[in-house]
Amino acid sequence: MAEIKIAPSILSADFARLGEEVRAIDAAGCDWVHVDVMDGHYVPNITIGPDVVKALRPHTDKPLDVHLMIAPCDPFLEAFADAGADIITVHAEAGPHLDRSLQAIKALGKKAGVSLNPSTPETVLDYVLDRLDLILVMSVNPGFGGQGFIPAQIDKIARIKDMIGGREIEIEVDGGINPDNAGAVVAAGATALVAGSAVFKGGAYGQNISAIRKAAGG
Ligand code: DX5
Ligand code: ZN
Repeated sequence: MAEIKIAPSILSADFARLGEEVRAIDAAGCDWVHVDVMDGHYVPNITIGPDVVKALRPHTDKPLDVHLMIAPCDPFLEAFADAGADIITVHAEAGPHLDRSLQAIKALGKKAGVSLNPSTPETVLDYVLDRLDLILVMSVNPGFGGQGFIPAQIDKIARIKDMIGGREIEIEVDGGINPDNAGAVVAAGATALVAGSAVFKGGAYGQNISAIRKAAGG
């Protein structure tokens, strides 16, 4: 099995020193940099926009994994693509036409992801599987870092793994991931783990990433 990707969420970074924080997680051995974009409308919090992604781009060569928690999403896809996003993930409910949003991301030359909230059934993926590079399973309700992992999502991960069959689609899990639950989500089928609090806590980013990686079995 391919190595598990660890994607620290910069939502838990020091926003006053974001460039430095991105360089630090890069040096600490992360695989992707997870960027949580929130609009105060689709989710009850506001974070960062395309200009910040653009400003961060020169600070790492690792993929920028941009998680859009915004609705509508379509008007902003090009701006995030131009800013340097590598993976652009939209929520299944972020617009009336998920298939169109995914086509737009692919047309911009980016990897396309769909995110499912804890209450969103995996059946929304049925007719878009062939457009996907990534499925992001939310294991908390989106909006904030530092929330508790919702165990019911482990079954969903396993069902999604069955659905995708032989397709090359990453299954990323986001929310409340730490060394205590990383093993279970990877056993269910996760291939990429987002972690905010568990990476940034205490400042020992390298040790924190290694602890998650070890718990994940790689
Ligand atoms: C939640 C975000 C997550 C979150 C992860 O809306 O999408 O990326 O910040 O943070 P932790 O790991 O602290 O739950
Ligand atoms: Zn996220």
